[in-house]
Amino acid sequence: MTTPATDVTRRYDQAHARLLDVNQEHVLHFWETLTDQQRRQLLDQIDSVDWQELHRLIQTHVQHKPEFELPSGVEPAPWYPNVPTAALKSRYEQARRHGEELIAAGKVAAFTVAGGQGTRLGWAGPKGGFPATPIRGLPLFGCLAEYIQNMQARHGVVIPWYIMTSPINHADTCAFFQQQGYFGLEPAHVMLFPQGMMPAIEMVAGKVLLEAKDAIALSPNGHGGSLKALYTSGTIADMKKRGIEQISYTQVDNPIVRVLDPLFIGLHALDQAQMSSKMLPKREPLEKLGNFCVVDGRITVIEYSDLPEDLAYQRTGKGELRFLAGSIAIHLLRVEFVESLNTRAGGFALPFHRAEKKVPYIEPESEQTIKPTTVNAVKLETFVFDALPLCETSIIYETDRDDEFAPIKNAPGPAPEVLDSPVTSKLIQTARAARWLEAAGVAVPRKSDGSVDAVIEIKQTTAIYADDLRGKPLPKAIAPGEQFFM
Ligand code: UD1
Repeated sequence: MTTPATDVTRRYDQAHARLLDVNQEHVLHFWETLTDQQRRQLLDQIDSVDWQELHRLIQTHVQHKPEFELPSGVEPAPWYPNVPTAALKSRYEQARRHGEELIAAGKVAAFTVAGGQGTRLGWAGPKGGFPATPIRGLPLFGCLAEYIQNMQARHGVVIPWYIMTSPINHADTCAFFQQQGYFGLEPAHVMLFPQGMMPAIEMVAGKVLLEAKDAIALSPNGHGGSLKALYTSGTIADMKKRGIEQISYTQVDNPIVRVLDPLFIGLHALDQAQMSSKMLPKREPLEKLGNFCVVDGRITVIEYSDLPEDLAYQRTGKGELRFLAGSIAIHLLRVEFVESLNTRAGGFALPFHRAEKKVPYIEPESEQTIKPTTVNAVKLETFVFDALPLCETSIIYETDRDDEFAPIKNAPGPAPEVLDSPVTSKLIQTARAARWLEAAGVAVPRKSDGSVDAVIEIKQTTAIYADDLRGKPLPKAIAPGEQFFM
């Protein structure tokens, strides 16, 4: 008969053998000092790691720094322009209608990746709880929820919303949704699931770091982990049960993202693409966005840090950057494609990327907690866009920066010019609302540099397009310095 005590002993023996095999037995260094509950927790963590895979990765990605090799024959990727050419006009009309039909038929789900730790923002809770809008301070999750409500009302359909958290923020994120009443959405159609984790590894000796005597320093395995977690969590099965065919993938950090975009969905579906992407024309050659390229006929994202400068600066005959298309992490994925990635022979693996970080740890020998002042560890992450070259067909659609991209990533600095901060995001949100109001005939005060001399917020349940303001009761003008909310 197995008693709880013999069960723990058996698990310890197995864990010890596995760790010994890969020179990581220090993970159990504090075993004798741990309570029964702490021991079980540590064993659970050990069981969640693929030690053989990690062992290989330590050799290839920690003890060696993988050199990026630019594939030969890299070309810029083609895209559908934001404003259709005359030849594309009818295609866009057909695509928009088709996208709307798919949404109305309940075949498209919203998917938000929110497993990141948001360290750059310096916000303690889940990033989706960060107050994002200029007047109400509606949290990021609330912005996405209002967009979904608008689409549900517009198309008379329930849109399931899947949210990927991490084991670190899962419970807090669930509690936040409950506390906020799911922002008016039906809880049965908002599904949260955690992603996988990877240990942080000390850079020189290649040892897994302990965050405490009973815990490995684990962190989320990158947004590429979503493609695995969607499957292993049973989410793909749930989607299939609901008749979902397409997944609309967006990040938690952009309050004005089009959570579901009929035109993009239609272009992707009509072209029978497996995974598609939105792009923005880069503002300057070295803007920190991944570059959409074509290699051997497949779409590939080459990170800004990997694209050689001579290519980044190249211009076309028209004076445009040759590698113009930057990735803003908005994708569409066919449910079948995500499933096929997970059921293919040999298993599903995206390449790992190395990130050097400062990771505090407890040192087994001295039993001291060390807070490093320089980078000491490697974290390994996979990226969702590395699935693009696995697609036979993939399209790219150009979106409008001012209408769809107001990310909140960095804490505001002493000067307002820190990019992608709550300050810049609110200015972009106000500017978008101002343009929409002006298009509807409202006079908006502007400063001499053209910026809006007011703070404006339009709820996404009120409008997600400029045209939605037509026929709504609107003031003739907004006063300078006014806070205007509708
Ligand atoms: C990302 C993209 C960048 C793009 C930018 C657009 C990468 C490497 N970079 O940069 O090309 O221009 O967004 O805004 O993709 N997340 C998880 N789990 C993880 C890690 C991240 O769910 O393990 C989520 C975060 O919660 C967030 C999103 O992924 O919603 C982006 O994460 P982050 O690592 O901050 O990427 P960025 O540096 O913002």
